[in-house]
Amino acid sequence: MRRAAVAVATTAMAVSLAACGSAKESGDNNDSSDSAAKKGDAIKVGLLLPENQTARYEKFDKPLIEKKVKELTNGKGEVVYANAKQDATLQAQQVDTMITNKVDVLIVDAVDSKAIAGSITKAEQADIPVVAYDRLAEGPIDAYTSFDNVTVGKTQGEALLKALGDKAKDGQIVMMNGSSTDPNAAQFKEGAHSVLDGKVNVGREYDTKEWKPENANANMQAAISAIGKDKIIGVYSANDGMAGGIITALKRAGIANIPVTGQDAELAGVQRIVTGEQYMSVYKSYPQEAAVAGEMAVALAQGKSLDSIAKDKADSATTKGIPSVLVPVVSLTKDNIKETVIKEGFYTLDEICAGNYKAACDKIGLK
Ligand code: BGC
Repeated sequence: MRRAAVAVATTAMAVSLAACGSAKESGDNNDSSDSAAKKGDAIKVGLLLPENQTARYEKFDKPLIEKKVKELTNGKGEVVYANAKQDATLQAQQVDTMITNKVDVLIVDAVDSKAIAGSITKAEQADIPVVAYDRLAEGPIDAYTSFDNVTVGKTQGEALLKALGDKAKDGQIVMMNGSSTDPNAAQFKEGAHSVLDGKVNVGREYDTKEWKPENANANMQAAISAIGKDKIIGVYSANDGMAGGIITALKRAGIANIPVTGQDAELAGVQRIVTGEQYMSVYKSYPQEAAVAGEMAVALAQGKSLDSIAKDKADSATTKGIPSVLVPVVSLTKDNIKETVIKEGFYTLDEICAGNYKAACDKIGLK
């Protein structure tokens, strides 16, 4: 019932948004700053992240954004944080609370990029600029930063093809995409298909509800029953969290040594790469993405131009010409763990090679 109500409200919102999108289309993306009082360093930044099952949000994004805001405001800026735990309705309430509490700017990583549009409009009406973080929220946002998400999907697809080599058509692969409410998931999927189509047989493909590892696990079990355990030769998994659920299902069915992709360079993912259970992940520099978001938010709160920060423009379904920065990504395999996650200080060698992982690290020469 609630879902149906949300869907209807979203459609109504999309229509009214289309009608008021013209100011943005004329290229004036800093209009909210004109009426906002010019702020000094004592700004309040509202940070909304979508979930906390995927490790990145509270291990990297949150502390890195807080650090950047402090740095840019001589320690005087404050970040107010809320995590929506995959609940779009809760996220809308969190935006309301932040508007009531008069934050100076919002950084929003949306659970549902369409459903959030009404909240973004409310923020605009309250003269609070919005930075869309990682996922391109619909509605009148002022800036956007993310990774090149189609390239993320291509990177995963290319790695899978490389791992399959000349056996790519000797069986079926399973594709486990992310949540259909996340525009990034659609871009990962598009990038992966652009590389894989025609080169592999896709036995089963899923959009995984809420990106949850347990849902990926259930989908994988269904795929194994449908395709047959001896015919599955690889799995495209859109992220590491789901790869965890998928690998558990593969092991339970007695399937070993097939390539599984991932994304996020989570510690558990990197450790599975070390043991060979997972073939690759996509390493994304959260420090870079978080730094850009912090710079955008502070500039917008202080009524400054984004010209020196964002050279590119992005379009969403509702808003055109959004100042944007897309950070490049790197394919992470057992061969470049040192040059990526260890070098950038995500994890130490000791963390990765702790306990039972020591022998596997030695075996791949990770010392
Ligand atoms: C992010 C990924 C993350 C996924 C699940 C995507 O929007 O870009 O890094 O794994 O959401 O939270």
